[in-house]
Amino acid sequence: MRISQLLKSSKIKGIIMPLPMLQKKIPAHPLSSVKAIIAVAAGKGGVGKSSVTVNLALALKAMGYQVGVMDTDIYGPSVRRMLPEDRFPSQKGTLITPALCAGIKMISMAYFRKENEAAVVRAPIANGVVSQFINNVDWGSLDFLLIDFPPGTGDVQLTLSQQANLTGALMVTTPQEVALMDVRKAMHMFDQVKVPLIGVIENMSYYLHPGIAEPIHIFGKGGGERLAREMGIPFLGQIPIDPEICQSGDRGQSLFARDANHQRPATRAFMHLADQVVAHIKVLKEETNNCLSNFELKWKEMESHA
Ligand SMILES: Nc1ncnc2c1ncn2[C@@H]1O[C@H](COP(=O)(O)OP(=O)(O)OP(=O)(O)O)[C@@H](O)[C@H]1O
Ligand SMILES: [Mg+2]
Repeated sequence: MRISQLLKSSKIKGIIMPLPMLQKKIPAHPLSSVKAIIAVAAGKGGVGKSSVTVNLALALKAMGYQVGVMDTDIYGPSVRRMLPEDRFPSQKGTLITPALCAGIKMISMAYFRKENEAAVVRAPIANGVVSQFINNVDWGSLDFLLIDFPPGTGDVQLTLSQQANLTGALMVTTPQEVALMDVRKAMHMFDQVKVPLIGVIENMSYYLHPGIAEPIHIFGKGGGERLAREMGIPFLGQIPIDPEICQSGDRGQSLFARDANHQRPATRAFMHLADQVVAHIKVLKEETNNCLSNFELKWKEMESHA
């Protein structure tokens, strides 16, 4: 029966009765209570996207924010190893409740595969998994959801950029030119799909050798800052090379748990980065709101001329 016929049949004394079918409330999207959805991307592999995602999430958590992490590296998920769960994910109807790791909500392909089992899936399936992460995970209310992007600018990255309602993207790079080349390509992708770039993070910027005062710039100096200037976006900070980042990741012990008083330069660098991210997201949101109110103003003017 067509909707018009249904409406007709439910007419009593000239009043259209509300039909249960039409009354049914459309459920809110699982991401609707997430205040900021942030891509952590590079285009380049191995520059530290996952390490930055995990430690930035921990730094934001330490500042008192509610944080979630979506690991979208379907073929090489590493976030679960870096931050093991205190509570496993579970399923309620069509929705998945994310895992809980040191107070951070987390979803990853790693929860759906054994650790050494490869996800042998073609791109459409990988895309489908990522779509389910976007549409079927019950994130609840969060201040920040960080999305750890896989390397490259392929199908999955495009799906995420177009479907995840991203607030903006954080670009991670290392200082050398070969890394910058790929990061530029990823920036171009975000530009094409109209995702704002929040800023550049330079990882593995320098090494502080015990007993040597000057930082050692193993991978070159200033590449991240140069890239930010070239693209006209903020430079958010440098993360030093610290074996503790690598070891804490491998052992699944958080850098923040091992350095609770933030003594290490790397821990302090992540706290500084979190401050910068909070500040720049605020500016970005204000700019978006201003755009909306400007648009509304114009519309009212046009209406009054009519
Ligand atoms: N600042 C750092 N100091 C020391 N080790 C680091 C640092 N950043 C990352 N690493 C180490 O470098 C390796 C690669 O980092 P990570 O897995 O975070 O990179 P990625 O960009 O996510 O890689 P992929 O493209 O494979 O997903 C890891 O072993 C990690 O522990
Ligand atoms: Mg990674």
